[in-house]
Amino acid sequence: MPATPPRPLPRRRLVLAAGAAALALPRLVLAAPAATVLPPMAEGPFYPRPDWRAGGPFSGDWDADLTRVQRGGRVRVATGEHLALGLQLRDSAGRAIDGAQVEIWQCDTRGRYRHPRDGGTPADVDEGFQGYGEARTAGGGDASFRTIRPAPYLGRTPHIHLKLRHPSFGELTSQLFVDGDAGNAGDFLWRRLAAAERQALGLKLQPASEGGLRWQARHTLVVPA
Ligand SMILES: [Fe+2]
Repeated sequence: MPATPPRPLPRRRLVLAAGAAALALPRLVLAAPAATVLPPMAEGPFYPRPDWRAGGPFSGDWDADLTRVQRGGRVRVATGEHLALGLQLRDSAGRAIDGAQVEIWQCDTRGRYRHPRDGGTPADVDEGFQGYGEARTAGGGDASFRTIRPAPYLGRTPHIHLKLRHPSFGELTSQLFVDGDAGNAGDFLWRRLAAAERQALGLKLQPASEGGLRWQARHTLVVPA
């Protein structure tokens, strides 16, 4: 029987594989323990829904590198302090969750979201900041993003919105904060959180100097078993 040639990867998978290699985190990053299950938090008004992502003025580039946007053959780079964000997903029994979809979205350094209710056109926002990105956990529950250090906007402390999906727990929406940020004490959502929940949602940023990065963080996300 003749050997069957390997099937080429679909283009989307090739792009994701290339992105994952480019997003490898610096080796200095240490995992921060988090024993508390991720508390659900509001999605907020600026979640870029799939139908808008598919057909909106920014359609096309939604990979895990939010600091570069490719449009019409040009690549623009995000303003702000670039952050390598490593997330590890596990359940409350300690099992790593592979194959989960991880979505993040946040405002740019102008405080604008890529969303029709906020930055609805390319002129409204930092054209180099993707605003939304997605990845899938693999190799022990890991997903890597490259983004910017979250910026504040009117009424909110810096935060990154997060949505997780996997058959084992369904869908979970929350927000990540910057541990120790001076704006947290005045944030109406942060103030409602218990100390353990703040630890579960607080990114511990460490300085980075490789590859144009200013910050790095590795954070464990615990979902219900
Ligand atoms: Fe927000």
